[in-house]
Amino acid sequence: MGHSRLAGLKNGTSRQTGSAGSNGAAKGSAPSLLNERQFVLAGVHKTPASIMKMNLPKRINALVKLHGTPLMVIDRRVLEQEYKRFARLLPRVKLYYAIKANPHPDVIKTFRDLGGCFDVASEGEIRHCLAQGIKPNRIIFANTIKRPEALEYASKAGVDFVTFDNEPELYKIAKHAPGCRVLARLKVGNLGSIVELSLKFGADEEQMVPMLAKAKALGLRPEGISFHVGSQCTNMESYQRAFEQASRLVREAKERGLPIKMVDIGGGFPIRHFRSDTVGVETMAGQMRRELDRLFDKEIEIIAEPGRALVGPAGMLITRVVGRSIRNNKNYYYLDDGVYGDFSGIVFDHCKYEFRTLVTTQKYASILAGPTCDSFDTISLSEEMPELDVGSVVYVPNIGAYSCASALHFNGIPPAKVIVV
Ligand SMILES: Cc1ncc(COP(=O)(O)O)c(C=O)c1O
Repeated sequence: MGHSRLAGLKNGTSRQTGSAGSNGAAKGSAPSLLNERQFVLAGVHKTPASIMKMNLPKRINALVKLHGTPLMVIDRRVLEQEYKRFARLLPRVKLYYAIKANPHPDVIKTFRDLGGCFDVASEGEIRHCLAQGIKPNRIIFANTIKRPEALEYASKAGVDFVTFDNEPELYKIAKHAPGCRVLARLKVGNLGSIVELSLKFGADEEQMVPMLAKAKALGLRPEGISFHVGSQCTNMESYQRAFEQASRLVREAKERGLPIKMVDIGGGFPIRHFRSDTVGVETMAGQMRRELDRLFDKEIEIIAEPGRALVGPAGMLITRVVGRSIRNNKNYYYLDDGVYGDFSGIVFDHCKYEFRTLVTTQKYASILAGPTCDSFDTISLSEEMPELDVGSVVYVPNIGAYSCASALHFNGIPPAKVIVV
């Protein structure tokens, strides 16, 4: 619990390899946010809709036949369902999808068409959103540390809504993006979250109102407060405390003549990776609704920046066994995707996944490894798996977030082809 994420790598932008070329990346100056050959737009891969209507084993076999493996399948119906569920459960909360979780153009367009807004972390992500037809006024630049050039680009492009958590950043914003709307990010407890973000981000409570006052003095528009309880947060208490801290700050700011218009409750909303997981957005939403209404006047706009919760459940990774051996008395299966690829979330996101197969025979203690020549590329040291052969399918549900977004080409092995169906 509470690991620090190896921040920066997770956006994929710091190590992308360029445009997706002939397989359908966004055209023009917008960079591809996934690796070359990785994503294939819906209009290009042409997966028949009938395949998605098949039962799961048939569907997987048909997809493997059509596309090969490894294959990341993002189900648009699930994206829509998760977005609508979130909006229904938290009707007061305006959604800014954090595209770092999965920047596939068709994912962004799906949320765009549902009226969504977007959270970006870099100039590359702004360009990418604009290339998908997102209006600049639907974007928040929610990285508290921004390159001066990125601020200048954002400002020219009409993205004038950013977060910050320190005074030097405010001077930078005032210089490179004058007049911007700013949210001050508060440091909040991340207990019970898998990814700890407060190690790196957020100002102490007592710094917040003075920083908002400073923003105003610098000609910026201090509009509110933001926080992030850490990613995959299953502890409602973390949200509760953060809401209470934010509510105190709203009162304090008002007393200092700084009326707060907005509270950004960040991301962190958990998903169920395993059948046995019990906590999800719906188990927390009732208390969240009540507490938001109790603590914040109706005039205060509440926004959120969910990433994982919107895209995680929509993704299924299909891999195949490409080698097997017995080592230390255990079955050792080598898959065609590994921790340098779409299982990179094991490293960067501290994520654990449920591995499923199409056979239901007796299970044995097994080890799953990736395809590269590195022993670090070990996916799981302890999985109960049926006897598998070279060619057997191993698939993983709920892996749409922080997976293909941080996948590499290490050893010349490309990550999974990503399709949105
Ligand atoms: C500023 C910010 N907003 C939103 C998110 C999305 O968080 P999650 O995927 O936990 O919802 C992140 C994740 O790192 C983040 O850093």
